[in-house]
Amino acid sequence: MHQLRYLIKTYGCQMNERDSEIMAGQLDQLGYQATFSEADADLIVVNTCAVRKSAEDHALGYIGQLRQVKMERPEVTIAVAGCMAQEPGTIAWLTKHAPQVDVVFGTHNLHQLPELLERAEHSDEMIVDVWQSAGEVVEHLPSRRKDGVRAFVNIIYGCDKFCTYCIVPFTRGKERSREMQPIIAEVQALARQGFQDVTVLGQNVNSYGHDLDPARDLADLLRELEKIDGIRWLRYTTSHPRDFSQKLIDTIAASNKITRHVHLPVQAGSNPILKRMNRKYTKESYLDLIARVKSRIPDASLTTDIIVGFPGESEADFEQTLELVRTVRYDAAFTFIYSAREKTPAARWEGRDPVPPQVKKDRLNRLMELQYKISLEANQALIGRQQLVLVEGVSKKSARIWAGRTQSNKVVLIDRDPAVDLLDRFVPVRITGAKTFYLSGHISGRPLEGPEVRRIALPMAN
Ligand code: SAH
Ligand code: SF4
Ligand code: F3S
Repeated sequence: MHQLRYLIKTYGCQMNERDSEIMAGQLDQLGYQATFSEADADLIVVNTCAVRKSAEDHALGYIGQLRQVKMERPEVTIAVAGCMAQEPGTIAWLTKHAPQVDVVFGTHNLHQLPELLERAEHSDEMIVDVWQSAGEVVEHLPSRRKDGVRAFVNIIYGCDKFCTYCIVPFTRGKERSREMQPIIAEVQALARQGFQDVTVLGQNVNSYGHDLDPARDLADLLRELEKIDGIRWLRYTTSHPRDFSQKLIDTIAASNKITRHVHLPVQAGSNPILKRMNRKYTKESYLDLIARVKSRIPDASLTTDIIVGFPGESEADFEQTLELVRTVRYDAAFTFIYSAREKTPAARWEGRDPVPPQVKKDRLNRLMELQYKISLEANQALIGRQQLVLVEGVSKKSARIWAGRTQSNKVVLIDRDPAVDLLDRFVPVRITGAKTFYLSGHISGRPLEGPEVRRIALPMAN
């Protein structure tokens, strides 16, 4: 019989990456095999992101290319999933412009993938099945994780923060935490399979557990997870400054497993803008939080997200953002030009009071220039130090270089002896060079002893 093959193209954040792993697990169970090429795929799933227009344009461009694939091989099934599918505008657009698409489903019903494929097989029409709100948290879904020692684990779905620029609360629904026990069981199973670097996921991990009975919090969860043998690094993403508690800071400070990487998206440095963004903190309370983090965790690596050109942002507002960046001295910042999102309050303000495109670009450039200088200085300060690096692969640029990451997520390029396989190993590295986006160094000790890592993807055991 013909071996069915699938390809999943994933856009967006780690939550989407994780959803793709769950889709892959379901397809494994249906007897499909993964492929990397459109040319021999029987099923292509496009897992989309809606956070900015540019993300949508990438996905739509790819969906456009699939028209050719469908023309050449009409038997291919094309599915569109993810955050864009949750937007009514997308469905209307696909219906009109993308007849090559067979199935559309959203973020709340990806566990229905097998049924949806079955329905698509018996239909000539585009099957659209998008749930407007989330049902109960679904446990026991199969999943196929990427090979290696790094794994992602969902702990909370959705977001209740409703920042006025953001589409995520609409595409991901209200906050729902997983119970602590199945999360612990999942991480224990991962440790048994040889995973050593676990990142817990949520749009706002700091609100983990408030909806459980009894209520729990992220610090409680991390304290349980760090007891699990075999797990070396525990990371979390993403956190909101408002709920980043002193208890969590103290928990990180006392732990030798929880990452020292503290990502605290600030978005803007001006109080009126923060208020209109509905971020629910002020510049002063944010800076106080940063000071508490720095004093309890002196080796913390701080990063942030910043939006420029929010509707009504004046030059003086923007200068306060620059000022805040100079004060905090982040290791790195993800910087974005504001992008109006349908249904959000800020999209209406953008209609009345937009920042001109050229000004937005100019502000982005000024911000990046400042941040790059600070990033370089922060990296240079690590020269001479020893860091533990997880080796992720051979550098794309040279077979004589390994690429890896520190626990604080900094990229490190390491001299490579092709005779020694260090893939997926944790190695001590002496840092000898620093650039804006990466460090370089050489191996300064033996790799940590660890389990053999090659493994086959297993269903999640919980
Ligand atoms: N839950 C995360 C954010 C996820 S989106 C958090 O609150 O930190 C990642 C980043 O994209 C945000 O932090 C923000 O900086 C940016 N972003 C979100 N919506 C945007 C928009 N409409 N335009 C530009 N950037 C946006
Ligand atoms: Fe969007 Fe704000 Fe929720 Fe982050 S916290 S996902 S920026 S609404
Ligand atoms: Fe994008 Fe959805 Fe993540 S909008 S950033 S894929 S939650």
